[in-house]
Amino acid sequence: MRNGTHTKIQPPAIAGVTDIKANTFAKDVLKGLTSIPKSLSSKYFYDDEGTRLFIEIMQLPEYYLTAAEMDIFTNQTEGIFNAFSDGIREFDLIELGAGDGTKTAVLIEHFLNRGADLTYSPIDISKEACDALSAKFNAMFPGLSIHPHVGDYFRILQNLQNGSGRRKILLFLGSNIGNFSRVQTIDFFKQLRAVMNRNDLLFVGFDLQKDPHVIRKAYDDSTGVTAAFNLNLLTRINRELGGNFDLNKFSHYASYRPIECAARSYLFSHEKQSIYIEALNRSFQFEPWEAIFTEISQKYSLSMIETLASESGFEISKNFFDSKNYYCDSLWRPGQSHL
Ligand code: AVJ
Repeated sequence: MRNGTHTKIQPPAIAGVTDIKANTFAKDVLKGLTSIPKSLSSKYFYDDEGTRLFIEIMQLPEYYLTAAEMDIFTNQTEGIFNAFSDGIREFDLIELGAGDGTKTAVLIEHFLNRGADLTYSPIDISKEACDALSAKFNAMFPGLSIHPHVGDYFRILQNLQNGSGRRKILLFLGSNIGNFSRVQTIDFFKQLRAVMNRNDLLFVGFDLQKDPHVIRKAYDDSTGVTAAFNLNLLTRINRELGGNFDLNKFSHYASYRPIECAARSYLFSHEKQSIYIEALNRSFQFEPWEAIFTEISQKYSLSMIETLASESGFEISKNFFDSKNYYCDSLWRPGQSHL
C-alpha cells in the first residue's frame, strides 16, 4: 500500500549505477577526469551503441585493418591450418575478445573441411556478443562444439589451463593489443604464457607501420563514424553516471605520431565549461580546447613484434601478411628457455 507519509523520496535512479561494473566505471571516470592530462579508458567504448558503431567502423574503407586481416584469413587459410595443426588434428580454439567472429568463421570453416577435430571457446566481456556469436556459429557449423565464456580473460583462462590435454590455440585478433601500453602488453602476454602448455600456440593480430596518412585517416574517417564512436563515451557517462556533457561542445580529434608509432584519439572541449556528474556528486572544469585522451592504437614493426615475443617468453613460429603488407598475424609458441 502506498502511504504518502511513509514513502521516502528516492533520488532519480541512474541506470546501472548500483552494480559493481558501473561502480568501477564511476571510479575510473573520476580518476581519469581528475588526472592531468584528463583521460578516459577506451575499454568503456563498447556499450551496445559503441559495439554497433565499431561494427560500422570495421566496414569503412578508411579502416583498413579489418580488410587486411580478412585478406590474410581468406588467402592463407591453408598455411594457417598447417601452422596451427602441425601434425596435430585435434585442437581447442580460444578467442579472446571474440566480437562478432566474422574472421574466425573463415578459419573454422576451412579447418572443419580439412577434417580437424575442433572446439571453439569465444571469451568476451559482453554477454550479448557471446550469445549472438554462439547462436550464429551453432547455425553455421552444426557439428562444432562451442563453449562461450563471459567475463575476464585471465580468470577464464586459468580454468582452461589443463582442461582437455589437447592443444590450445589462443586467438587475439584485430590489433586489439594496440590499445595497451607497452608495459601492459608485456604483462598481458606473460599472463597468457603462464597458462599455456608446451604445445599450445598464440595467434596475435598486429597492425603494421605504413604511410602515416593512411593510419591517421583510419582514426578520423570522412563520414564521422569514428567521431561518433569516440563521443559515445560521453553519452555513456551521461546515461550511466548522470553526466551533463553537451555533445555539441566536444569534438573528436585523432593524431598519428610516427616516432612512437601510435595513433591517439582525443575529445576536445570547445570552450571553458563545467561538467557535473551525478554519480560522482561533483563537477569537472574544462579549459577552452582542453583535451581528454581516450585511446592509443599502437602500430608495429617486425622488430617490435620480435622484441615483444621474446620479452614475454615466446618464439615466433610464423608470420602471415596481407597483400599490401599492412598487417601481420603472428603465430607464437612458448619459448624453450621458459619451460
Ligand atoms: C578494436 C582496438 C583494434 O584501435 O584500431 C577503431 C578500435 N578505435 N577506431 C583500434 C578503434 C577507433 C580499434 N581496436
